[in-house]
Amino acid sequence: MGFKGDFLLVLDFGSQYTQLIARRIRELKVYCQIEPFSLELKDIQALQPKGIILSGGPASVYESDAPMVNKELLSLGVPVLGICYGLQLMAHLLGGKVAPTQKREYGPASLEIADSSSLFFGLEENECQVWMSHGDRLEAIPPGFSTLASSQNAPYAAISAGTGRLFGLQFHPEVVHTPKGKDILANFVLRICQASPSWEITSFLEQTVAEIAKTTRGRKVVLGVSGGVDSTVTAAILKRAVGEGLHCIFVDNGLLRKNEAKQVTEFYQKELGVNFTCVDARQRFLKALAKVTNPEEKRKKIGRLFIRIFEETARTIPGVEFLAQGTLYPDIIESRSVKGPSATIKSHHNVGGLPARLKLKLIEPLKELFKDEVRQLGQELGLPHASIYRQPFPGPGLAVRILGKVSDERIALLQEADALVEEEMSKAGLTEAVWQAFPVLLPVRTVGVKGDARSYEQVIALRVVESKDGMTADFARLPYDLLATIASRIMNEVPGVNRVVYDISSKPPSTIEWE
Ligand code: XMP
Repeated sequence: MGFKGDFLLVLDFGSQYTQLIARRIRELKVYCQIEPFSLELKDIQALQPKGIILSGGPASVYESDAPMVNKELLSLGVPVLGICYGLQLMAHLLGGKVAPTQKREYGPASLEIADSSSLFFGLEENECQVWMSHGDRLEAIPPGFSTLASSQNAPYAAISAGTGRLFGLQFHPEVVHTPKGKDILANFVLRICQASPSWEITSFLEQTVAEIAKTTRGRKVVLGVSGGVDSTVTAAILKRAVGEGLHCIFVDNGLLRKNEAKQVTEFYQKELGVNFTCVDARQRFLKALAKVTNPEEKRKKIGRLFIRIFEETARTIPGVEFLAQGTLYPDIIESRSVKGPSATIKSHHNVGGLPARLKLKLIEPLKELFKDEVRQLGQELGLPHASIYRQPFPGPGLAVRILGKVSDERIALLQEADALVEEEMSKAGLTEAVWQAFPVLLPVRTVGVKGDARSYEQVIALRVVESKDGMTADFARLPYDLLATIASRIMNEVPGVNRVVYDISSKPPSTIEWE
């Protein structure tokens, strides 16, 4: 772990909310680390957390293969808070009774607080709305426990042991639907565990830079950059840590936005001032994609070719020993998650994982951070606002927005339309208000009329979505006048397009990108 200071440990039992617990705690300026529930007791002890949280999860404690923890965890003297499944597990291990409810409870509930001396300190009885999501519930609390709060369907909605070290909540304090959840977590983290709030992005930056400098000791590091926020922040950190030892590689696959290759090159060479190689691989990608129309095949071809080109280029830099990547914490958690919902949420996407055959040692400075923390770090590093708050752009680029065959002409057409969308969204001041705004080129032609003549031309679908994390999304309710401006500009200014449609699908069941 990179961070040295008080921290909390979350043991993950597969809840879709596990990451939220960690985020809420970091918002309290206390560092928080997520580990699988199966982490051995001795390893937990070695970490010396100030407190432990047992997350929720989809299992039932009375199933034969239910995820368990060593019971001794509950008598280490370290405060433990069980949430939902975590509460049930704690009760089950200590002699309480857990049973299925008649009906799965999912949604808001009112909490009646019986004891506001510990977890509910400072909360008024009548203000506590909470979010429930469970199929099992506690029927009898373990010996030595008392009830802190109840709801209509959950008589033991919150419990604690007489020792004041063990707590359990049937509801989810980490979700926004529990408005006072943050106060409840703050009571646990700050009052009960007495963790000192020392998690600051500034100290993280200093520690990380020092650690990388120590690990690399002047040896060379290679980093693939895309112009996106994660790789840009990674580059800026590495520049501080290794200076001239950093070599950035940018692969221009020809599937970027208009002028993007030029802008990225200028930014890295002039503003950031690092060793930078832009590989012009436009023709190679075009050739590889020439006959491909299947979306998965496109993605795979692009991913493989990227890796090959990156590898070729990295080998031309003599004496490289390290490979840096802008992997974020959610990627790490998901790649080693326990079975259960959180394992399946994230996708197929990144071309990231470069081959071990490069035989380089990996450096991942952002692997403990969430996206919003990466942005804070970018600010701390003095990076320009526009590069920190850029909209996400898929690794395979415009290829997944050109349905059907990818050709020179179709890329140029989509780049023009994309530039117009960006310009109008920015003029309307909405670029940062939405998650993404982009055009998609469809593989159909429709009849229209231009001047007095019949036209038979292509269709652009406009996709503008709002989202918190890209996992779910809804189409943005843009003003009609703005939609009209964008549509008419595309039809007038982009040759070959005579129709624009607006995509009003949500994710799920759609996805954000069309391919
Ligand atoms: P979907 O289309 O799955 O996209 O709803 C969710 C988010 O991920 C972005 N995306 C990608 N990002 N490599 C990436 O780095 C990829 O291959 C990729 N595919 C989709 C997409 O733009 C959206 O923000």
